[in-house]
Amino acid sequence: MTDQSQEFAGRIALVTGGASGIGLATADLLTQRGAQVAVLDVNKSRTHLSVVADVTDDTGVRQAVADAAAALGGLDILINNAGIGAAGTVEDNRDEEWRQVMDVNVFGMVRTTRAALPFLREAVRRHGQAAIVNTCSIAATAGLPNRALYSATKGAVYSLTLAMATDHVREGIRVNCVNPGTVDTPWVARLLDAAADPRAERDALERRQPTGRLVTAAEVAAAIAYLASPAASATTGTALAVDGGMHGLRPRAQAQRVPPAK
Ligand code: NAI
Repeated sequence: MTDQSQEFAGRIALVTGGASGIGLATADLLTQRGAQVAVLDVNKSRTHLSVVADVTDDTGVRQAVADAAAALGGLDILINNAGIGAAGTVEDNRDEEWRQVMDVNVFGMVRTTRAALPFLREAVRRHGQAAIVNTCSIAATAGLPNRALYSATKGAVYSLTLAMATDHVREGIRVNCVNPGTVDTPWVARLLDAAADPRAERDALERRQPTGRLVTAAEVAAAIAYLASPAASATTGTALAVDGGMHGLRPRAQAQRVPPAK
């Protein structure tokens, strides 16, 4: 029987945006389960093998992916997680901001995937499969207030996930995404800090989710690890919601707070 706690033994993963939040929790979890992990981020990782690059820079991304693969001996798993937020209705963001957020959230994934594919194909030759997991969002499938630009990027990530899954299925490369609700990460902490009444803003975000609380980064990491796992070898082209029920549930009364599992 496979020791599930070491299901990634012998596998090599690259996590973009792995210096903080969901990416950091994912890098930690994959490492715990036996993977060798590198982090591609504009900020240096303090805890994992670090390749510093901005996903908007194609040359830098190609170099960073090649450096990570050279340092670790290949690449079996790519977690496309780096992303930035944007607030506003369709009237509010200037063209330059649209270009910038699209550049990071959508084209960034294109660049890292393009650079990683030759290594992932090599991994298929060695291990029979390779996997890509994209961090998408509930914003891809539900209308959230004041998130026109951000939602457009995540809608594109969802469609890109399906297209990539189709293109590479016969090569043995699986492509899936996670759709988190509001996750308690440094990003959301920054959003709350900027609000006029951070406590009221946090309450509103918690109440929006049927579980009555924010999702944890560890919960998203667990979903990403599942999709990246060799055990999920028949799963491709799916979006796994990690959103406290926000996408599918319509409870009539406010749900009691449902804490994370211990
Ligand atoms: P975070 O801000 O804590 O971490 C994001 C990481 O990405 C940071 O380490 C940052 O340096 C890196 N990064 C940003 N721009 C980059 C660039 N151009 N090149 C390379 N690295 C870059 O954010 P969090 O919350 O962990 O978000 C991670 C992903 O999860 C994003 O794609 C975000 O859209 C998605 N997400 C977050 C949700 C939330 O509520 N926090 C909900 C749904 C999706």
